[in-house]
Amino acid sequence: TSPIRIAPSILSADFARLGEEVRAIDEAGCDWVHIDVMDGHFVPNITIGPGVVKALRPHSEKPFDVHLMIAPVDQYLEDFAAAGADIISFHPEAGAHPHRTVQTIHALGKQAGLVLNPATSLDCLDYLIDDLDLILVMSVNPGFGGQSFIDTQLRKIEAIRQRIEATGKDIRLEVDGGIDQTTAPKAIAAGADTLVAGTATFRGGADHYAANIRGLRGG
Ligand code: DX5
Ligand code: ZN
Repeated sequence: TSPIRIAPSILSADFARLGEEVRAIDEAGCDWVHIDVMDGHFVPNITIGPGVVKALRPHSEKPFDVHLMIAPVDQYLEDFAAAGADIISFHPEAGAHPHRTVQTIHALGKQAGLVLNPATSLDCLDYLIDDLDLILVMSVNPGFGGQSFIDTQLRKIEAIRQRIEATGKDIRLEVDGGIDQTTAPKAIAAGADTLVAGTATFRGGADHYAANIRGLRGG
């Protein structure tokens, strides 16, 4: 099995048939299901809430990787945990007390991820990294699928990989935004172990999902 995990973003799925789409990527061999939650306030788009996450839960047993782009974030953690999230990731800008947010996610029995926007520096990791299960590097500005990969984020991925190795802990390094056949190998070479892909997974229709996912893994 490949050490690279592929987490299709269902933002690029057919929203009228979301359950079917989740089953299709599950059967196509995805590792996680990436769910983008946007509030029209922290980011300029509105997507999915806990009700949809709950409705999707019976359609796959793979981990639900829930990316919260909402502020304030703390008041919704319990709802997403109850809806069936396995990994809950949030942005440090989305609340005044990121350490408390991590503690709350862990108290709910879920894995915690911290998401760094393209312009967010690594300082926020200084006193938090040991408590994280996942670090998610945004290689586009959050809000929409189908944007182009921002190359400066490769340096950030490299730097975070070094910091993860220094902890000696099993912390996942995920990259989100503009991942395709060309950018996936660059992100992997920089140290990413988990790739989110919306457009590149769902292109071509369900018959192509398995090949699309295989292609992102590197064949
Ligand atoms: C952007 C989301 C991403 C997005 C990725 O705010 O966090 O998960 O859906 O889409 P692609 O892979 O199309 O760039
Ligand atoms: Zn995302």
